[in-house]
Amino acid sequence: MKSARWVTLALFSIVTLSLAAPAARGDIQYFPERKVWVLEAGETTYAFGVNERGELQSIYWGARVAHGADFQAAHARGEIASFDISTTTTPQEYPGWGAGLYTEPALKATYADGNRDVVLHFVDQHLDGNTLEIELKDIASALQVHLYYRVFPETGILERWSRIDNKTDQAVTLESAQSAAWSLPQGEGYGLHYLTGRWGAEWQLHSEAVQTGARVIESRRGSTSHQANPWFAIDRPDQTTEENGPVWFGALGWSGSWRFTIEQSAMQQVRVTGGFNPFDFAYRLKSGEQLETPPFYAGFTNGGMGEASRILHRFERQSILPGGENAALRPVLYNSWEATEFDVSETGQLALAERASKLGAERFVIDDGWFGQRKTDHAGLGDWYVNPQKFPHGLKPVIDRVHALGMDFGIWVEPEMVNPDSDLYRKHPEWAMNFPGRPHTESRNQLLLNLARDDVRDYVFQWLDQLVTNNDIAFLKWDYNRNWSEPGWDAVDTADQKKIWVAYVHNLYDILDRLRAKHPKLEIESCSGGGGRVDLGILRRTEEVWPSDNTDALDRLTLQDGFTHAYTPGIMMAWVTDVPNGMNGRSVPLKFRFMVAMSGSLGLGGNLNKWTPEELQAATEYVAYYKKIRPTVQRGSLYRLIAPEGSEFSANEYVSRDGRQGVLFAFLHSQRFNTPFPTVFLRGLEENAMYKVQAIDAQQLPDMGNVSGAYLMHHGLDLKLRGDYDSTSVTLEKLP
Ligand code: DGJ
Repeated sequence: MKSARWVTLALFSIVTLSLAAPAARGDIQYFPERKVWVLEAGETTYAFGVNERGELQSIYWGARVAHGADFQAAHARGEIASFDISTTTTPQEYPGWGAGLYTEPALKATYADGNRDVVLHFVDQHLDGNTLEIELKDIASALQVHLYYRVFPETGILERWSRIDNKTDQAVTLESAQSAAWSLPQGEGYGLHYLTGRWGAEWQLHSEAVQTGARVIESRRGSTSHQANPWFAIDRPDQTTEENGPVWFGALGWSGSWRFTIEQSAMQQVRVTGGFNPFDFAYRLKSGEQLETPPFYAGFTNGGMGEASRILHRFERQSILPGGENAALRPVLYNSWEATEFDVSETGQLALAERASKLGAERFVIDDGWFGQRKTDHAGLGDWYVNPQKFPHGLKPVIDRVHALGMDFGIWVEPEMVNPDSDLYRKHPEWAMNFPGRPHTESRNQLLLNLARDDVRDYVFQWLDQLVTNNDIAFLKWDYNRNWSEPGWDAVDTADQKKIWVAYVHNLYDILDRLRAKHPKLEIESCSGGGGRVDLGILRRTEEVWPSDNTDALDRLTLQDGFTHAYTPGIMMAWVTDVPNGMNGRSVPLKFRFMVAMSGSLGLGGNLNKWTPEELQAATEYVAYYKKIRPTVQRGSLYRLIAPEGSEFSANEYVSRDGRQGVLFAFLHSQRFNTPFPTVFLRGLEENAMYKVQAIDAQQLPDMGNVSGAYLMHHGLDLKLRGDYDSTSVTLEKLP
């Protein structure tokens, strides 16, 4: 078996060697005489090899080196005195904790006899199209690790994950199982960018120097979390700007607890290791069992932070989000949460639906409060029957009317939660996550259902399936309003109880996958009290996300800017809500609110019963405007021209996939010292093409006739914005 593989391998390598240059845009080459692999994708090359000890060692990650044969065999690095031995100075692709490793391990395990030494050496490889599998094995036991490398030719993204196989005849407990370790070129002078937050203040971008030592960004909360998002970018602050210079970036596809360790060793080797959070982690593999780690995606560009984002956005649209690049555009939706909160009723919702449809809404969503005995957040979660007082005729008349008004219908659910004051909890208290005999910690008066239990998973799937089967529902807003506490799971052996961190998320994915398979037209929004569950794992199963409960337009500019560093603006739902804003009391003009919300996927979230005829008229016009630019905003390339943080000005531009339309949004937050709006230099246009330029309000941009792309990019636009919270949008239509 093995020799047959090696014959294939040798044949494969002869073919790849003879065709080595120029390589296709996505390619995996193997140089068997040196045991070196060269992965090419998009503008990136990634290389690693087997060193003289048999370890898999990183060789290169950076700009494209088309001549793969240039990469020399891997040689273990030397020791630095007796304290930093070669096993720790050598950048391994997937280091086990053993043999004197002082940097972050990718795998840490305990064998049945108490032995904790894991030293992984190369065994074999298999290539299948764009996916390479490398087999490693512990030097003294039958613990195997399979590393997977998959290249995405279009974007240059490289996906890595691992599978740990216990081929020993006794149980092995994994204490850390990471997806990948990514080593950067040796040396100092790197900068790290990452996103943190909290409820109502997600997507805060931080930039700092990478220092010797380790920087940990993580969630120990059971889900992705508001606290930090599993995305990173590392640049060279002395060379990198928004538009130029090297950036290494990555994002994890996992919706449970996760961790990134960004490390600079004492020898100035920078590395990012990421995967399952090892905190409270113990995953027992019985003989013959295996564990797969989440996908960790990464890329490189020389085009600055802006291009790093654009690559990720394209990758998400092409390879992560359901439906691929031509997935349906996000409809303009109406949601009454901020208008009515729990006070929903058939008449109230229908009155709002009438108004929303007149404004041009395409989807009407009933939020929290429609089910069980849900009058406040104290009761009802778990009891997913239509509340008969609020909807005496069930949902059907509402859905029928919504359809008659030309909209489709969506509804809010929070399937993973239960209120102690609910029939479900009274019947199944053992389904709530808890350590038996210990008090529960409630949060928003609710508890988590232990989705790791298969009976809970099946129950949740069954009622969701019935809800969607029995009602014409196009869309679920899937909410999740607390983090974990007391993560007990006493239904399984003591040694398996910590598997809850992984099993919960697998069952969540299973429910979503089965629901989607059974209801292929159903769309889902991932919401977790705002943006607490946005990651490349949940995005494989949801069309859009709710980035924040903070709908104040000024705060949103910063949140949205942070969001777009990692995620495409097309999935970023943004509602226009009422002022003064419920969260911070700020009042900004309707136009500003619309311009901010149109920078993502536009929604309406105000109490339309209170809007004046003038506001309703203006809103109708803005919605119509949005529909004309929507494909460009949702599927185009985003250029962050002026960042909102630390400035009273900001501007973003989107260029459509076919290059025929550009859209600019510009904001003056607060006028200071009568300072004019800085010239806006557009990007991503064709130098020699001619564009018709039009501002949404003519007085904000003097008529300039048709002008060239070169003029717009080099001379730029001088916008007339004045006062506090002024804003505009400009369209650039390419002339045939
Ligand atoms: C939190 C969400 O983020 C809100 O939009 C809303 O759906 C509430 N939950 C409802 O309880």
